[in-house]
Amino acid sequence: MKAIYPGSFDPITYGHIDIIKRASEVFDDFTVVLMNNMRKKPLFSADERLEMIKEATKNLNVKVDLHNGLLVQYVKEKEIKIAIRGLRAVEDFEYEFEMALANREMCPNLEMIYFMTDIRFLFLSSSMVKEIAQFGGELKQWVPQMVEDKLREKFQM
Ligand code: PNS
Repeated sequence: MKAIYPGSFDPITYGHIDIIKRASEVFDDFTVVLMNNMRKKPLFSADERLEMIKEATKNLNVKVDLHNGLLVQYVKEKEIKIAIRGLRAVEDFEYEFEMALANREMCPNLEMIYFMTDIRFLFLSSSMVKEIAQFGGELKQWVPQMVEDKLREKFQM
């Protein structure tokens, strides 16, 4: 069964990687798709984010892709019926619910499936990681080494 994991991955964290590992064991044709989130201004370029996703998932049975349009256009083009998302604490719910309803309006055949975060990553987000990096904090429990290197490079530390 085909499924995608759309997200802005700015940058990819161990929270995302945990979801990717678990979902790729459930779906045999699984693609992580980098998309634009118009609500966020990315720190990393699409190429940089794609490179980090590829590196972080190189030992997993997953594909990586980039899409610049709407999520529903991607799934219609590729005939995909399932998109997965990770859910952390309650604050994710409202945003996910809104997105799922909007997507269903545009593409009734698409089912969103949610993977609950591992407790270790309950408070982890790409924004938190960027903030920690900006102030020179410890990153190794949140992101792989190459992401940490890229963050340090960005913030020139
Ligand atoms: O990791 P994020 O930033 O929470 O991911 C959000 C993302 C990229 C999945 C969402 O913004 C999205 O689907 N972007 C593609 C454009 C789109 O379809 N927008 C309409 C959403 S209702």
